[in-house]
Parts: sequence; structure tokens; C-alpha cells
Amino acid sequence: MSDILIRPEAPDDDATISHLVSNAFGPGAYARAAFRVREQAPHDPALSFVIDLDGELAASVRLTPIVIGPCEGRLLGPLVVDPPLKSRGYGKALVRHALAEAGALGVRYVLLVGDPPYYGPLGFAPVPPGRVKMPGPCDPRRLLVAELEQGIVASLAGVVAGRP
Ligand SMILES: CC(C)(COP(=O)(O)OP(=O)(O)OC[C@H]1O[C@@H](n2cnc3c(N)ncnc32)[C@H](O)[C@@H]1OP(=O)(O)O)[C@@H](O)C(=O)NCCC(=O)NCCS
Repeated sequence: MSDILIRPEAPDDDATISHLVSNAFGPGAYARAAFRVREQAPHDPALSFVIDLDGELAASVRLTPIVIGPCEGRLLGPLVVDPPLKSRGYGKALVRHALAEAGALGVRYVLLVGDPPYYGPLGFAPVPPGRVKMPGPCDPRRLLVAELEQGIVASLAGVVAGRP
């Protein structure tokens, strides 16, 4: 992969990101449990990034502040890549960047709902069964967490809520 520009999301990116997200997830997007959490709290501008190819937005990732019980963290998503630009490593590069920046800011864990084969090699593992619930339908096998503070997963229990 050649050098790419990953930069923080800017307010002007919002319309393009919304377009990419509704194209990728379709009309069912807003029924997803992760979207319900994101309705409760805005995404964190300090931890939301885009890939910018000479002024064209190629990919986006957003992190939203959450709590599980008393334990604060971030929910990752949506992650979306402009379809003609898939499989160039942009998705993985954005996730790695977001995790590194989150760790640098002292975030203790990052949760997401996604495909284990994609996110596993990026540091995500299934949440131990029965301890953490999304506020809507969610296949528990797809509820994944990256520990940025070692051992933090043991203290996660409860329903995921956006932290406004
Ligand atoms: C999923 C998505 C973000 C991946 O972005 P990308 O930039 O194309 O992915 P990367 O280039 O980083 O990685 C590509 C590799 O991941 C694999 N991959 C892509 N989606 C995958 C998935 N859902 N499960 C497992 N592997 C997947 C590809 O087959 C490819 O494998 P290869 O490197 O062996 O060829 C992108 O396809 C997308 O925007 N999809 C629609 C929205 C979406 O589903 N977002 C994720 C929500 S969980």
C-alpha cells in the first residue's frame, strides 16, 4: 500500500460519510443495535478519522463514547470504504490508526459489532458470553472488544449505552 493520508474527520465530511454509510448498510442501517447506541451520543471528533485521497474521501471510521456499567470506552463504527476503493488496506489502516490514537488518549477498551475474521487480526476478540448486551438485536458472536488496558474486559458487565 502506498502512503495514504489519514486525517481527523472534519465537519465538512459529514454529508459524504452519511452517503457512504447509507450506501453500504442500506435502509436497515438504523435498526442495527450499534446505530441505536450512536443515537444516544454523538461520535467523538477526536477519534473519528478519514482517508483523504487528494481531497476525495475514500474511507471513514467513527468512534463513539460509551459506558458499560461504570466503565467508559468507545464503540467503533461505522467503518466504511468507498466501494471502488475496497481491498487496498484502507479499512484495516483506519482501524489500526483509531486504536493507536484511542490508546494514546487513555481509552481502556474499544467495542464493536462486526465480523470476527476481519477484526480478529486487528486485535479484537469476542466479548465473554452473557456479560455485555447491546441495546437491540445483536448476534453475540459478533460482539468484539479490543483491550487497550490489559484485563479490562473482566470488568465489563451490563448494557452498552452512549455517553453524551
Ligand atoms: C468491510 C470494509 C470496511 C473492509 O474495508 P477494505 O478497505 O475493503 O478492507 P481491507 O483492504 O482493509 O482488507 C481487505 C481484506 O479483508 C477481507 N474482508 C473484507 N470484508 C471482510 C469481512 N466482512 N469479513 C472477513 N474478511 C473481510 C477482504 O476479503 C480482504 O482480504 P485479503 O486481504 O485477503 O484480500 C469494506 O468492505 C466496507 O466498507 N464494507 C461495507 C461496510 C461494512 O460492512 N463495514 C464493516 C462493518 S462490520
